[in-house]
Amino acid sequence: MVADVSEIGIDSYAVHIGDGLLERAGDIIRSSARAHRYAIISDSNVAPLYAERLRNAAGRESTEVFTIPAGEEHKTRERWSALTDALLAAGFGRDTTILALGGGVVGDLAGFVAATYMRGVPFVQLPTTLLAMIDASIGGKTGVDTAAGKNLVGAFHRPRAVIADPAVLATLPANHLRSGLAEAVKHGAIADAAYYKKIDAALPSILAASDDAALRTLIVRSVEIKAGIVLQDEREGGLRRNLNFGHTLGHAIELESGYTMLHGEAIAIGMILEAQLGERLGVTAAGTMQFLRDTLTRAELPVAIPSGFDAARILSATRGDKKARDGVIEYALLAEIGRAVAGVRAPDEMVLDLLTQSASAQ
Ligand SMILES: NC(=O)c1ccc[n+]([C@@H]2O[C@H](COP(=O)([O-])OP(=O)(O)OC[C@H]3O[C@@H](n4cnc5c(N)ncnc54)[C@H](O)[C@@H]3O)[C@@H](O)[C@H]2O)c1
Ligand SMILES: [Zn+2]
Repeated sequence: MVADVSEIGIDSYAVHIGDGLLERAGDIIRSSARAHRYAIISDSNVAPLYAERLRNAAGRESTEVFTIPAGEEHKTRERWSALTDALLAAGFGRDTTILALGGGVVGDLAGFVAATYMRGVPFVQLPTTLLAMIDASIGGKTGVDTAAGKNLVGAFHRPRAVIADPAVLATLPANHLRSGLAEAVKHGAIADAAYYKKIDAALPSILAASDDAALRTLIVRSVEIKAGIVLQDEREGGLRRNLNFGHTLGHAIELESGYTMLHGEAIAIGMILEAQLGERLGVTAAGTMQFLRDTLTRAELPVAIPSGFDAARILSATRGDKKARDGVIEYALLAEIGRAVAGVRAPDEMVLDLLTQSASAQ
């Protein structure tokens, strides 16, 4: 049986979503980025599970697999240069398409290899985490981390296609599924109240993995929302800033955790804090934070800063964030569930007070 495939266009490329699509990826790859040779870049968790399937789909004779160790700590310039050297040594020329098979780490790193290899070769994103399907694979941002911070070196390089097969999420660890759900909740919160309600209602069945259709619907709607925003604003001048809701404080908490917290976990806490901040500033409708807290609690995500965190350090960590303009922090907050307002400034004392309260609530 051929499952339904949803196709969402983003300017020059499309996101294809459908169960079993990995096996049938060959046609999409050939029609969007036909090449003489294909290089699959994947990680040590994903490659043993899915690389063979993709290799068969792309054509075994013309395809090679390059595997990096799994984990954010490998999204580095060192891995970028090792992969580039491996491609050069294997004789890959300009007529190459890179196939990024994995989560956001693989997508960002392989995308950056593609952006720079021989001044740029085509690539196709095959995201295998929920976060990568609804967020990281869409928008054309690629890059690596450095000792000074995350994603500080990179390039805009659009994929030729994004191919998401929700069936692969069956092997994704539950904490990573929840982390991706935080971004889906964010999409509803900033752009679509009806979608927010739908996620809220579907959470128990999604977490119990008892309703694949609900998960697929979520992926499609989240991709539509992110794609819609990216389409209108690729370089982050205006609308794209709305996607930063929960991320100014969330990133600071993630950093302060020494990245022991997953991105979505930190963002869940960030959304609660920034909803509270908005309510205090009179920007956000009263009761919004409570909605979010109920939803995120049901998603089994954290909603307060864990013990041992220092509020003042979190506040100062927001200053290193790329979202600071001329040293002034601008928040993307909610007007209400379904609508965001970017470019909001807040007094340090107010933020510090919120952080202190949250950190001592545990
Ligand atoms: N480019 C962008 O616009 C953008 C946006 C958001 C996030 N990101 C980046 O994405 C990264 C995080 O992505 P992530 O959360 O996908 O993390 P990840 O790539 O580290 O994947 C999470 C873990 O799940 C494993 N895994 C992946 N798919 C699997 C599957 N189907 N079955 C079993 N295991 C699987 C991976 O090996 C890894 O251990 C960060 O580096 C972040 O900066 C980029
Ligand atoms: Zn995020």
